[in-house]
Amino acid sequence: MVDNMVYTKRRLKKGPIIILIIFIIIIILVIAGIKLYTHYTSNEYKLEKLGYSEKEINILLKKDDKILKKALTKYDEYLIPLTNQKYFLWKNYKTYKEYINKLQKETNNIDYKKVITNVNTKRNYDFYTHTVKTNMDKGNAILVNKYYSLPEAYAPKDIVNVSNQHSYGTVQIKSEVYDAFKEMFNAAKKENITLIINSGYRDYASQEKVYNQYKETKGEEYADSIAARPDFSEHQTGLALDIITYGASGTTFDTTDAFKWLDKNANKYGFILRYPKNQEDITGYSYESWHFRYIGKNLASKVKQSNLTYDEYYAYYIEE
Ligand code: DAL
Ligand code: ZN
Repeated sequence: MVDNMVYTKRRLKKGPIIILIIFIIIIILVIAGIKLYTHYTSNEYKLEKLGYSEKEINILLKKDDKILKKALTKYDEYLIPLTNQKYFLWKNYKTYKEYINKLQKETNNIDYKKVITNVNTKRNYDFYTHTVKTNMDKGNAILVNKYYSLPEAYAPKDIVNVSNQHSYGTVQIKSEVYDAFKEMFNAAKKENITLIINSGYRDYASQEKVYNQYKETKGEEYADSIAARPDFSEHQTGLALDIITYGASGTTFDTTDAFKWLDKNANKYGFILRYPKNQEDITGYSYESWHFRYIGKNLASKVKQSNLTYDEYYAYYIEE
């Protein structure tokens, strides 16, 4: 009787222990299963399978969804270096890669910043090739360069004569630009600086004449470095001014106080230095310390702050 009781007790104790063990095993299996499932369905695993390195995966997992989604379609060694660039544009993605392939025929050392700049500004093509008509709806912000032309034989409205108090010879510019110039002229005058407009609006025929003169005397390459072809000049928009001061020529202008003043203040009146030093490869023109372009006050300050050429600024912030 006593013996029987002990036996039953033991049986009663063993049962729950077995159940508990089975339960624990099930839990472990479920957790392991979940872990395996999570691993094999994770972006990390998928990226690894596609061939991305651990370093690349860590970077990609921190990128935005669009980049990650693109990475998950197939291995792409250019995705990270390109999207790391500040002025990366998705619409140019294919062209960036085509351009890199072209560059790789000459060098293995790819400058991704330059790739972005060149493709954004069409500099992956030669000047005056792949030209398009510029979007005139952009108003004062229109881009006119060796890829973006004006409508054929374009002539703006609201062109006014500049008083000889403000200019050398006969000069015309857009009325809004003249108002902005006068405001700038008066501000400079207060600091004993005299700004004089040397050239303003040039119609198709005058621009053609300027360009052809250089071409005939110094050849096409030189002409292209210093003058725009007709329909490709900012002067034909009535928005560009060549500014000079007493006693200075084009080549000495950037040593004058007038230039220093303009370099610092022109943006407050809506003007930007359009062909800066060391940016010749993007703008397509030799440094022109005298050529200022009116784009409006708000925009001019933003462009100055960005430290970009207008060609780059337009491509990234304005075109679309
Ligand atoms: N000198 C500038 C580039 C022009 O001809 O428009
Ligand atoms: Zn000019």
